[in-house]
Amino acid sequence: MTDIIDEKTAIALTTNEERFFTEFEDEIKLFRHKLVLDKNGAPFEVNVCSDEQNGVVNVVVKCVLLSQNSYQISEKSEQFRDNIAKTAFIKRVAKSAVYKFISDALGEAEPYGSLTGIRPTKLWHEFEARGKDADEEMKKLFVSAPKRTLIKEIVDTQQSVYNSDPDEVDLFVNIPICTSRCAYCSFISAELDRVRKNVPLYAELLCREIGDASRLIDDFGYRLRCIYVGGGTPTSLPDEQFHEVLNALSLLPAREFTVEAGRPDTITSEKLKIMDKMGVTRISVNPQSLNEATLDAIGRKHTVEEFFAKYAEARSYDFDINVDLIAMLPGETTEMFARSVDGVIALAPDNVTVHTLALKKGSALKSGGYDNTSESDAAAMVDYAYRACKAAGYVPYYMYRQKYMSGNLENVGYCKPCRQCVYNVDIMEETTTIVACGAGGISKFVDREAGRVERYADPKGLDVYLQRGEEVWRKRREFFGECEARRGKRAQ
Ligand SMILES: C[S@@+](CC[C@H](N)C(=O)[O-])C[C@H]1O[C@@H](n2cnc3c(N)ncnc32)[C@H](O)[C@@H]1O
Ligand code: SF4
Repeated sequence: MTDIIDEKTAIALTTNEERFFTEFEDEIKLFRHKLVLDKNGAPFEVNVCSDEQNGVVNVVVKCVLLSQNSYQISEKSEQFRDNIAKTAFIKRVAKSAVYKFISDALGEAEPYGSLTGIRPTKLWHEFEARGKDADEEMKKLFVSAPKRTLIKEIVDTQQSVYNSDPDEVDLFVNIPICTSRCAYCSFISAELDRVRKNVPLYAELLCREIGDASRLIDDFGYRLRCIYVGGGTPTSLPDEQFHEVLNALSLLPAREFTVEAGRPDTITSEKLKIMDKMGVTRISVNPQSLNEATLDAIGRKHTVEEFFAKYAEARSYDFDINVDLIAMLPGETTEMFARSVDGVIALAPDNVTVHTLALKKGSALKSGGYDNTSESDAAAMVDYAYRACKAAGYVPYYMYRQKYMSGNLENVGYCKPCRQCVYNVDIMEETTTIVACGAGGISKFVDREAGRVERYADPKGLDVYLQRGEEVWRKRREFFGECEARRGKRAQ
């Protein structure tokens, strides 16, 4: 195939397994620097055949490009507990075959092999729970040795906080508001000035919703584990409303209470005092980069100096502090990124989260035509952060991946020993039910015995949230009732 694929080649995917079409597309998109999907492109055919005898499934996958190349893989499974697990197995084998075919043909391998999901560590936990050798299973998915080591380290660091109690739940509160929009960001959040007049009403309704969420937790016999106030930028709320919302949360008995303050320009002395008084245990102060020119280019609206000043002030309180960085921001070399990593580590925050730029639809960078896919630069940056954090005594404790990340890499949260953010582990490993409040908040009911996660979303826009009022949390209560009924029925 290398002779067919020169610069960027268009290929048209067809398959007899339409239900896996999107997943096969995702495999092809891993090689987006060489391949582009186009229905008029060179035909690429994926044929999946599976048959079952005595509960054992045999899968055969054949990939053909322009009738010139083919790759065949066949794999037998163990017995499956249900059809969902069986389909997941067939899909995984078929995706890996597509990946391997293209990877061999291009002579290129991706760090996570055929894995395209958000949660590699969750998969590792699942393999282990099924009594499998997770490392061997990841090898079958062509995950590279360094990434298998990283995943294993994270899984090990999670042990002490990994939730196994189905009645422990987290509370998430969404503040989808920012003072301005950063160029790389596609989170759904409104600019404060555009919604300022609605903010008092939003805070009032949100406090009532938090009250209902707290009653729901009691009514269903749950126990609260963590509170996480995210967004957006919660600290972009005016002081009065910020106080109101945190006050509503302050009496709830949680082991961890995070406010993702984030943007240094929104962190004021008053906000820090309020967070301290309301019992917040963890905050973020995020520079993303310690290069002034980069901050200007991505529209952060704060300086490097301001980050250091706000960090120092926040440090005078008792909070655990997290600092976010992003690798592969526009104009940055590995050396520039390394200086940011070193500068942050020198402050010794409790957590450092190293993101890799994801070029997302809806971000100013993407719509402005920015295209930075240098896999080698991305790998060098992420590798530098890993080595520097470990040398400074940090351990990786959670990770997630997104589409369109530079180098198909990952985001990794590092922590000082015993300083894991429990909520981050809960949400990434999907071990814990989450009751979410606020516009755009997504509640999740986790039924681990059934291997099922069900979701309920509050309306995304502030306006719709305000219009719907109490109906939002009435529906959420119904959702939890239905999920519990399904769980109860299964248990009978
Ligand atoms: C939900 S955002 C909120 C943080 C807070 N509003 C701030 O800006 O500091 C959490 C983090 O995700 C990361 N992030 C957001 N968009 C990203 C993107 N497109 N690529 C990589 N990381 C991204 C940033 O590091 C950001 O601090
Ligand atoms: S990165 Fe943070 S401050 Fe910037 S737009 Fe996204 S959520 Fe808002």
